Amino acid sequence: MMFIIGALPQLESKSKMAKSSVKSNQTPLPIDCILKGDSRDVLNQLPEKSVDLIFADPPYNLQLQNTLVRPNLTEVDAVNDEWDKFNDFATYDQFTRDWLLACRRVLKDTGTLWVIGSYHNIYRVGSILQDLGYWFLNDVVWVKTNPMPNFRGVRFTNAHETLLWCKKSKDQKKYTFNYHAMKMANDEKQMRSDWELALCTGRERLTVNGEKLHTTQKPEALLYRVILSSTNPGDIVLDPFFGTGTTGAVAKKLGRHFIGIEREDKYIRGAQARIDAITAPLITDDAVLGKIETKRSAPRLAFSALLENGLLVPGQTLFFNHQPDKTATVLADGSLRSSDGERGSIHKIGAYIGNQTACNGWEHWYYETEQGNLQVIDFLREKIRKAQQHVNESS
Ligand SMILES: C[S@@+](CC[C@H](N)C(=O)[O-])C[C@H]1O[C@@H](n2cnc3c(N)ncnc32)[C@H](O)[C@@H]1O
Repeated sequence: MMFIIGALPQLESKSKMAKSSVKSNQTPLPIDCILKGDSRDVLNQLPEKSVDLIFADPPYNLQLQNTLVRPNLTEVDAVNDEWDKFNDFATYDQFTRDWLLACRRVLKDTGTLWVIGSYHNIYRVGSILQDLGYWFLNDVVWVKTNPMPNFRGVRFTNAHETLLWCKKSKDQKKYTFNYHAMKMANDEKQMRSDWELALCTGRERLTVNGEKLHTTQKPEALLYRVILSSTNPGDIVLDPFFGTGTTGAVAKKLGRHFIGIEREDKYIRGAQARIDAITAPLITDDAVLGKIETKRSAPRLAFSALLENGLLVPGQTLFFNHQPDKTATVLADGSLRSSDGERGSIHKIGAYIGNQTACNGWEHWYYETEQGNLQVIDFLREKIRKAQQHVNESS
């Protein structure tokens, strides 16, 4: 199958090639483009380790046997599209293995992948993900607040879908999780793995002559959480089953880049028009776009930097939690020595003196200022970070 960038003429002029991740013998990365073709072929022609996040909403393999009808005998708009038909489980599994393997190749070593599915396919997808070496970070349940009833009353209302979020391998150390942005988005409570969101309806739903363009268009609210939680502004989000382009639409709104892959012209046209109608954010600093700088995400700084920068001196006394009788001496190598001779890092000696199993020394050790007040040493760490940031910004 040919790899076509912007198969439709109007897409070609919109192609932008990302410079950063392109190696000389590889196809440049077509960012903010919809690529027409079978995702298994197209993925294999993209540069290796080039995208930050993959969100995939693959065919469900619903295997619907009969037309579904409501009690009033109207037909239910069910998923019986050609793209959802597979001969048997073995064919579906092979298809799943192929695209997941191809995704693993294009995903950066710091990237993560989300797959959404229903009970029809998600268990098969999950098992294949593990077989290929992916490592689960979470399974998230999308609880639908307005699900379609079970019209025949023979089963429970099927009111949720499952999202699997994984990293590339068990050993992968770095990946993006905007913990604080998610917490803020959840009224300052830690975001849970059950998300109550409505199905895509109303003005958001793409239609042609009053009919839904796509049977399974996902709500933007769902993608908003996915993209905000696991990417940073400017990152590249790839969706190998682009459909109406929900991933691209939300990526653009949040100042991220997208690459969409889709087989069907009618969906590509709808998605492109939808994305073109969106204005990218006017203010693009990290905080506006959901990257909240926290102590955890700030660059690491060793305690010895306080000595190197002259903010503390060897021999100086530190006070544990303001207490005059719980002290330690700062040594030139950036370690502390307790009054009874125990030696170690600010954390180790903090835990020792505080009689705790663990201690974040930055938050428990105080130094005496020139004015004679006690100030936590984290204040000095922030001072260095701010100075470093200033240097980076002006260089
Ligand atoms: C479940 S839908 C995705 C819907 C999308 N998330 C949205 O919000 O509109 C799956 C899409 O994948 C496309 N598709 C199916 N098999 C494909 C393949 N092998 N390569 C590329 N696209 C494919 C279908 O045409 C369909 O639009």
